[in-house]
Amino acid sequence: MQELVGNQIGLQNERLKMQPPNIFLNNNTQMPLIGLGTWQMKHQTCIDAVKKSLDLGYIHLDTAEVYMNESEIGQAIKDFSREKLFITSKVAPDDLDYYRVLAACEESLARLETEYLDLYLIHWPNSKMNLPEVLKAFKKLYDEGKIKAFGVSNFTINHLKETLEITNQLNLPLSVNQVEFHPRLYQKELLDFCNQNNISITAYSPLAMGLVFEDKILTKIANNHNKTAGQISLRWLLDKNLVIIPKASSEQHLKENLDLNFKLSEEETKEIDNIDESQRLINPRFAEFDY
Ligand SMILES: NC(=O)c1ccc[n+]([C@@H]2O[C@H](COP(=O)([O-])OP(=O)(O)OC[C@H]3O[C@@H](n4cnc5c(N)ncnc54)[C@H](OP(=O)(O)O)[C@@H]3O)[C@@H](O)[C@H]2O)c1
Repeated sequence: MQELVGNQIGLQNERLKMQPPNIFLNNNTQMPLIGLGTWQMKHQTCIDAVKKSLDLGYIHLDTAEVYMNESEIGQAIKDFSREKLFITSKVAPDDLDYYRVLAACEESLARLETEYLDLYLIHWPNSKMNLPEVLKAFKKLYDEGKIKAFGVSNFTINHLKETLEITNQLNLPLSVNQVEFHPRLYQKELLDFCNQNNISITAYSPLAMGLVFEDKILTKIANNHNKTAGQISLRWLLDKNLVIIPKASSEQHLKENLDLNFKLSEEETKEIDNIDESQRLINPRFAEFDY
C-alpha cells in the first residue's frame, strides 16, 4: 500500500497536473493525502501561493476561520473546478455553540465562495462548550450536505472518547483528528487510538515549522536519498498513513513537498521513530480542560 502511494506521488511529480493519491475516510469520502497548509498566509501572497499550488497539482487546501484568509482562498480557486478540490476549514473555539457553529459555517462558505466544505473541523476543544449541542450543529450541516465530512483538531484521546459517545448516537461519523505530528512529536498512543477507531489523522506542522531541517538524524538520512530533511519527515508521515498539510509559499518548496517517491528502509524508519522529543510547538490550551 505504501509503495503504491509512493509511486503515485512520484508519477504525480513527473506529471504535475496529476492529482495526489487519496485515502478513504470512514464515511467513504476521499481525502487527498497531501494538502497545502495556509496558516500565516495572507493577502496577495496567499492568493499567489494557492494558485501556484493548484497549477502544480495540489488539490487539497487547509484553512480556518481564524487564519483570516478564506476570502483570499476563495479568490485563488475561482478558475479551478470546485469538485476537483478538497477544502478543509475549521470553526473557531469561541464559536462553539449550536447557532454559532451554523453561522460560522455559512460565513466560511460565503468567504470561500463555495456551496460546501469537504471537511469541517472543531479547531480546538473548548471546556465551556456544550459538546452534545455543538455536535448536533455539525450533524445538521452534514445532513444538509454543507459539509462532506466532520472532524476535530487538537483533540486528546479523552476528548475523542467523549466525542465518539455522542457522534455514535447521532450517527455522525467522526472522520479526522488534525493534530501536530512530526518526528520530534511522534504521538504514537494517539495514532494507535485513532487507527483502532477508524479516525484518520492529519499531521499539521509536518515540517515542525522548519525545525526538521536542523535535525541531524533527518539530515543524515536525507543525504542517503539525495533528498531534504523535510522530505524525509513527510515520507515518514505518509508511511504511517497520515495525511500531510505542509505550508509552503515558494514554487521550489511546493514542488519539493510533492516529490516523495522514495522508500525509507526499516532501519531508517526506526531511527526516525526514536527521534521523538515530545517537542510540541503549538500548545492547544489543554490546561483549560479537565482532561
Ligand atoms: N489545526 C491546528 O491547530 C493547526 C495548527 C498549526 C498548523 N495547522 C495547519 O498545518 C499547516 C502546516 O503547519 P505549519 O504552517 O505550522 O508548519 P510546517 O508546514 O511544518 O512548516 C512551514 C514552514 O516550513 C517552510 N517550508 C515548507 N516547505 C519547505 C521546503 N521544502 N524546504 C524548506 N522549508 C520549507 C515554510 O516556508 P515557506 O512558507 O517560505 O515556503 C514554512 O516556514 C498550517 O499552515 C495549517 O494549515 C493547523
